[in-house]
Amino acid sequence: MAVNPGQDGADATPLRAASPLSSYGPVAKTLHWLVFALVVVQYVVAITMPDIGRNTVPGTLINLHMSIGLTIVALVVVRWLWRVGHPIPLATPDLSSWEQPLARIVHAALYVLLAVNPILGWMNASARDWKITVFGLFQLPHLVAAQSPIGRQAGDVHQFLAWVLLALIGLHVVAALYHYFVRHDSVLQRMLPGRT
Ligand code: HEM
Ligand code: HEM
Repeated sequence: MAVNPGQDGADATPLRAASPLSSYGPVAKTLHWLVFALVVVQYVVAITMPDIGRNTVPGTLINLHMSIGLTIVALVVVRWLWRVGHPIPLATPDLSSWEQPLARIVHAALYVLLAVNPILGWMNASARDWKITVFGLFQLPHLVAAQSPIGRQAGDVHQFLAWVLLALIGLHVVAALYHYFVRHDSVLQRMLPGRT
C-alpha cells in the first residue's frame, strides 16, 4: 500500500488520509444529513396521511407533506449549487473500477428524483386546486390549471417515482453500510461529521 513517510521515514500513514479532498466539506455534509432527516419524515408523513380522492380537502398531514417536500426541493437545489462551486472527493482508492461509475449514476439519480418528483407532486396539488403553502408562511402559485389532465397524471407518476426513489435510497444506504461493516474502508467516513 502507498504510504506517506514522516521525516524519519517511520510514519506509515496512508496517502489518502493525508489528501485535502479525502472527505466532503462541512456544508455538503450538513445538507446531506438535513435532507436525509427530512426525507425520512416525508415518507412517514406520506404513508400516514389520509388517502387522497377527488374531493379531499388538505388537512394537517397533507399540508405538512407539501411543505416538507417543497423544503426538500429547495435544499436539494442549494446543495447542487454548492456542489458545483466546491470540489468533491469523488476519486477514492476504496471504490473499484465498476463501483465508481455506479456510485456516480446513483448519486445523479438521487439528485434528479429529489428535484423532479416534488415538482410532480406540486403539479398534482395544483390540478386539485389546493392552496399550496410552505408551513403556512407563504403561498406558492399553481403550476398547471385546475383539473388539467397533465396535473392528474403527474400525481400517478409522483407516487410511482416516490417508490423508485425509496429503492435507490435503499441501495445507496446498503452500499454505504457495506463499505463500513464489510470492506472496513473510508467511504462512509467521507460523509460523517468530523473528518475534513
Ligand atoms: C421528496 C419529496 C416527496 C416525496 C418523497 C413524496 C412522496 C409521496 C408518496 C410516497 C406519496 C404516496 C402516498 C400514498 O400513496 O399513501 C405521495 C403522494 C402525494 N404527494 Fe408527495 N412527495 C414529495 C413531495 C411532494 C410535494 C412537494 C407535493 C406538493 C406540493 C406533494 C404532493 C403529493 C400529492 C398531491 C400526493 C397524492 C398524489 C395522488 O394521489 O395522485 N408531494 N407523495
Ligand atoms: C434520504 C436519504 C439519502 C439521500 C437522498 C442521499 C443522497 C446522497 C447523494 C446525492 C450523495 C452524493 C453527494 C455529492 O456528491 O454531492 C450522497 C453521498 C453519500 N451518502 Fe447519502 N443519501 C442518503 C442517505 C444516506 C445514508 C443513510 C448514508 C449512510 C448510511 C449515506 C451515506 C453517504 C455517503 C458515505 C456518501 C459519499 C459517497 C462517496 O462519494 O464516497 N447517505 N448521498
